[in-house]
Amino acid sequence: MQKDLLKLLDLSKEDILNILNTADQLKYNQKHGIVHDYLHGKTLAMIFEKNSTRTRVSFETGMFQLGGHALFLSGKESQIGRGEPVEDTARVLDRYCDGIMIRTFAQEEVEELARFTTIPIINGLTDFCHPCQVLADLMTVREHKAVLEGLKMCYIGDGNNMANSLIVGGLKCGMEVAVACPEGYEPDEQVLDFARSDPSFRFSLHRAPKDAAVDADVIFTDVWASMGQEEERAIRAKAFEGYQINQELMDLAHPDCMVQHCLPAHRGEEITADVFEAHAQEIFDEAENRLHAQKAVMYLLMKNKED
Ligand code: CP
Ligand code: NVA
Repeated sequence: MQKDLLKLLDLSKEDILNILNTADQLKYNQKHGIVHDYLHGKTLAMIFEKNSTRTRVSFETGMFQLGGHALFLSGKESQIGRGEPVEDTARVLDRYCDGIMIRTFAQEEVEELARFTTIPIINGLTDFCHPCQVLADLMTVREHKAVLEGLKMCYIGDGNNMANSLIVGGLKCGMEVAVACPEGYEPDEQVLDFARSDPSFRFSLHRAPKDAAVDADVIFTDVWASMGQEEERAIRAKAFEGYQINQELMDLAHPDCMVQHCLPAHRGEEITADVFEAHAQEIFDEAENRLHAQKAVMYLLMKNKED
């Protein structure tokens, strides 16, 4: 493993599988009351420049279960909100803490934090990607389907941070990935270049959701307007009309097709209430697995060398 988890593009297939296997083991330990306080005495700083429920609670709880401590720094209330440069904040936290989780806008800010620190930096979502979420997603799909290799993943909606990480994570794990998005809302060029860089990757980009959903083993979607895009809500509502997981779409997929949503969900927009409720067990397993997948990431990046 490298020093940081900045984006899935930086990880090999082996790194990803190592995280998933470690997450399965940590989940087993937690469910069976087996002590796993590998990060005893360690501290994680969590910087949030955007809202969060799952990421904040799962990192903080995960750190506690690993025997360490997590502290919450909101962008607004820390000196970051008053313009203290990231490189200075980084060099200060480097002296106090053993790791930093950051949720912010620009990917470059996270990459810069990593350059100015000796401690691990974990990306808790940027406009570009959401690697921790997709590690939990891959863990959940593997839990339900036993394998990832050879399965077909479909993503319907905005070519956003979730789409970018799902494409990279899915392809690296040997899944076929089919994406449907409206014109002008495609995934990032860097991700499309990656998807088209290896002839063994099975990747396709569609306009019509029904073309991407055929025979899918798992269908993902995400909100039409992400954090920071609140002012575009009306324009996006028009652009994304029909980019919805509904029963008609599910009928095209494999009969045992799973549905995954990183949450929060907007029923009646990207997913109908009936499909959401029919797949609620899988969706909340996915939310739970944020805890276990992130504990694996923290363990692998922050453990003592001798462990
Ligand atoms: N899925 C996810 O990252 O949720 P939060 O925004 O609540 O952290
Ligand atoms: N694409 C969404 C994901 C939220 C977890 C956003 O960035 O707001």
